[in-house]
Amino acid sequence: MSTSKPSTISHNSRHEIKTDPPLPTPIIKWAGGKTKLLNDILKQKQPSMTGNYFEPFFGSGALFFKVAPKRAVLSDFNSDLMDMYISVVNDVEKVIKYLCQHEKKHSIEYYYTIRDKWNKRHKNQSSIMRASMFIYLNKTGYNGLWRVNKQGKYNVPIGTQTNVNLFHPHKLRASAKLLKNAKILKSSYRETLNKAKKGDFVYLDPPYCPLSSTAKFTSYTAEGFDENDQKELALTAKDLKKRGCIVMISNHETPYVREIYKGFRFHRVSCTRSINSNPKKRGAVTELIITN
Ligand SMILES: C[S@@+](CC[C@H](N)C(=O)[O-])C[C@H]1O[C@@H](n2cnc3c(N)ncnc32)[C@H](O)[C@@H]1O
Repeated sequence: MSTSKPSTISHNSRHEIKTDPPLPTPIIKWAGGKTKLLNDILKQKQPSMTGNYFEPFFGSGALFFKVAPKRAVLSDFNSDLMDMYISVVNDVEKVIKYLCQHEKKHSIEYYYTIRDKWNKRHKNQSSIMRASMFIYLNKTGYNGLWRVNKQGKYNVPIGTQTNVNLFHPHKLRASAKLLKNAKILKSSYRETLNKAKKGDFVYLDPPYCPLSSTAKFTSYTAEGFDENDQKELALTAKDLKKRGCIVMISNHETPYVREIYKGFRFHRVSCTRSINSNPKKRGAVTELIITN
């Protein structure tokens, strides 16, 4: 296998306009990440700043980093993902140190060596090292996808991007600082939401309902998310509404989604999705922002 660089690690980002203080931003790329929809989402509802902010399908947490709430409960079923955030909070400087090493060594061969090491989960890998590996693989893997097989092994090939931005030290520190105020959990959304109460803001961004039977992407975790899970989530949203929570849900616009969320308000938005294994299918889709 060639050891030539598949892409260059861009250092332009190091010189980009610095805000003072730097703004927190998502640390990783994530399928279904909401960066492109933030304006539409915030037009529908401004999260309350008095209650707690709950985001139990956290992924890259685009809305959380934008809103920067003082008190938040963040969780995801993907425990490797949440372990990465915990390590960033615990020792961001060491994560930065390891990321610098990955940057220097980046090549096709290095990518697959790290992917192998990641999947072997040797006991001598510290949590901080694993956090840096997670960010490195996410940023250099194909199309920023984090996909695992049924055994939970990360199986994404190297990406084809010509410029890879692994991290921005100032932003990473700002994101770590914001995450410090949050409770970070590795749990299913149901467990996390047990504690949501009147006045809390809850953003539910589950793996989406497929637009057709062949168009599904639910492999963020080895477990997946099927139609019954969608139905149960809608029941949870109704229960949160009864408890007096402010609820916002994202999903595809399909008759099924409209049916299970009957009684909520629907706002249609058009969005271009760049993470689809088939490049021909990356394009505009209509999504719903559902609120109570
Ligand atoms: C559409 S993504 C969320 C994207 C996120 N809003 C962002 O901006 O990046 C859905 C997330 O739900 C998580 N997930 C899947 N099933 C879950 C479950 N039962 N409980 C909690 N999280 C789950 C996945 O690991 C994935 O990170």
